[in-house]
Amino acid sequence: MRILSGIQPSGTIHIGNYFGMIKKMVESQDDGELFAFLASYHALTSVKEKEALENNIFEAAVNFLALGMDPEKSTFWVQHDVKEVLELYWILSNHTSMGLLERAHSYKDKTAKGIQANHGLFSYPVLMAADILLFDSNIVPVGKDQIQHVEMTRDIANSFNHAYKKEILILPEAKVDEIVATVPGTDGAKMSKSYGNTIDMFGSKKKVKKQVMSIVTDSKELDEPKEWENCNIYKLCELFMSEEELKELQQRYATPGEGYGHFKLTLLDKINEHFEPYAEKREYFINNPQKVKEILEFGASKARKVARAKMEQIREIVGLGLY
Ligand code: TYM
Repeated sequence: MRILSGIQPSGTIHIGNYFGMIKKMVESQDDGELFAFLASYHALTSVKEKEALENNIFEAAVNFLALGMDPEKSTFWVQHDVKEVLELYWILSNHTSMGLLERAHSYKDKTAKGIQANHGLFSYPVLMAADILLFDSNIVPVGKDQIQHVEMTRDIANSFNHAYKKEILILPEAKVDEIVATVPGTDGAKMSKSYGNTIDMFGSKKKVKKQVMSIVTDSKELDEPKEWENCNIYKLCELFMSEEELKELQQRYATPGEGYGHFKLTLLDKINEHFEPYAEKREYFINNPQKVKEILEFGASKARKVARAKMEQIREIVGLGLY
């Protein structure tokens, strides 16, 4: 069974990405053959500055490696190091209807927010389909926001297989963990780089504290009991705490005397505690960029082998194999 997923290096990676996808991927290294990549071509839809993109790619690679990505056991690379994906993207474009792309939520959401759409943003799901189909992926672990893109991938694969009367492209399944399907941001909406409501995994103590302190709550006073059910702080605590710790926290909410500031500090401690064990390994990779480069090159060479074999089959089937 092949498990594949990617993340856009389009800004600092946050705890929504971590619980929505990175953690699951790292854990899945024991369940199957893991393919993980940094979607650098996808990031071009939003990052238009050379240094920013380079830094984001490096930072994402360092974070994945620190969190347990094993480059020997798994295949870990940067998308643009395996250029076959662009060839497949073009071939698949010819099996993707305009209507399908026009229905994409992420495209519709972005344009509704006033982001100027260009062709890259519009055709983004076709490139994502190429990422998935090029590697014969069976399972794609993602957060809820990406489910539709995996469904579109299945539609595109079906059209292609139908056109050439051959089951050449494998239909993938999205794997979504309900509890972390949508991690809320500091304002309660989906945590997202583009909404400015994120909490960093490895930010400076000061920055993470500022982010946690900005979590939006109702205006109940210290001497009033509070409701944990709809509280943004509690929802984030759920990611880091055991059942027992959560019971205790519920008790604190029900008992007057503490304010939201106290609960925020509890959450902050939990976040620091959770990511602290990875700090040393992260520091090592930050200080050894050459090592990171070598790891990514090694991953790209493994990914390229699979991609080349698949592209040969596809070229042959569509009529690009002979001449
Ligand atoms: P991206 O970079 O936006 O996010 C990476 C992963 O994190 C998940 N995620 C969340 N999960 C729960 N709660 C949140 N608040 C939250 N925010 C983000 C996303 O669902 C995603 O799984 N298009 C993809 C990257 C990509 C890809 C692929 C993924 C490109 N090619 C092929 C899988 C397969 C994206 O933009 O993810």
